[in-house]
Amino acid sequence: MKLDEKFFAEIAENYGTPLYIYDADEIRTKVNSAKQVFTGLDARIFFALKANSNPHILKLFKDLGINADVVGPVEIESAKRCGMAEMILNGNGKTTSTRDYFLNSGGKLVSMDSLEEIGLWQKSRITKFLRINPDIYAGGHPNISTGGRNHKFGVTPQEAEKVADKLSGLHVHIGSQITTTDPYEAAYSKVIQLSNRLGFSWLDIGGGWGIKYQEDELDPIEFRRRVVPILSNFKGKIVVELGRFLVATAGFLLLRVSEVKRAGKVFVVTDGGMNVLIRPAMYDAWHRISTIGPKGKLGRCDVVGPLCETGDVLAKDREMEIPEPGALLLIENTGAYGFSMASNYNGFPKPAEVMLENGKTKLIRQRETVEDLFRGIPPIL
Ligand code: LLP
Repeated sequence: MKLDEKFFAEIAENYGTPLYIYDADEIRTKVNSAKQVFTGLDARIFFALKANSNPHILKLFKDLGINADVVGPVEIESAKRCGMAEMILNGNGKTTSTRDYFLNSGGKLVSMDSLEEIGLWQKSRITKFLRINPDIYAGGHPNISTGGRNHKFGVTPQEAEKVADKLSGLHVHIGSQITTTDPYEAAYSKVIQLSNRLGFSWLDIGGGWGIKYQEDELDPIEFRRRVVPILSNFKGKIVVELGRFLVATAGFLLLRVSEVKRAGKVFVVTDGGMNVLIRPAMYDAWHRISTIGPKGKLGRCDVVGPLCETGDVLAKDREMEIPEPGALLLIENTGAYGFSMASNYNGFPKPAEVMLENGKTKLIRQRETVEDLFRGIPPIL
């Protein structure tokens, strides 16, 4: 299927906007490329559901032999319903209900975030990992950097050593949208040295592979060349947790321009803003945007949403051919942390989601309705 302007114009006509679209073939390509990186190691890949938990996407991962990295009850339930073989439970501050939900769903692997948490799992027959904070800063934005000493995640290597007899392995995840191999080399060398000294049979190396939004991306070939030799010093089983790398490039967000406002600056106003894609507002993220339909001369504009916040921005000072009202905007690389971070802020229902597979489009989540959002509210009058 050719993902050209005509295709996107038709799909917007059929399903409406704002709309998320995912290309199944691209997900398959990414899964294969990740698998190739780890060939020769005893590694298994877990998809971080927080990046995109649409059950039809999860089914695709399941069919490709990918397991689930989950945090809360809905992710646990989604992984279970989609038949994903194994689950690892992640996150700090897991509640009693999350722990119970995981155990009752047959979950077996848990990454613990603190020494305090270990006691809470004492009686459970699970494989226990403890997350190490290696004091290494990495990631595309301070809010998605997790391996620094002042970050809330993990414990120091010295602390881990004290409780080694209660564990099966260590976990390290230093951040997201990491585009060079250096921080991985540093973090994995540190954690593998400790794992080998303590005689562990498991290791969870987290995820964080960066994709090409604008310039840099993590090169899987470079990762294989530079990082895999370090990993091969560990002789046990390896858990890999990838989110963004596997789905980001497969996703497109389609919006319609509702207004073009010229008030000093040019504001291109769309029918979805930080409520459908929060990454630009939250991490200053840059996403490629192209116009489908009527447009004018090249100029500079802010692409903004319809919410009552100045921060409701999709692109700032972007040079583009200024779209006219009614045109469509295609926002690329939105398959990860797009829909999964969408909200109902300012009273907008969440977008629909569509999957492209074998030359066909399939609705994989209906557009939310106003009525949906009143579910669970007792009668008012
Ligand atoms: N493992 C753990 C323990 C994680 O916390 C995460 C992501 C992953 C694996 C997967 O990381 P990935 O391969 O996707 O980088 N909302 C942000 C990203 C937050 C990442 C949270 N943790 C964004 O839109 O950039």
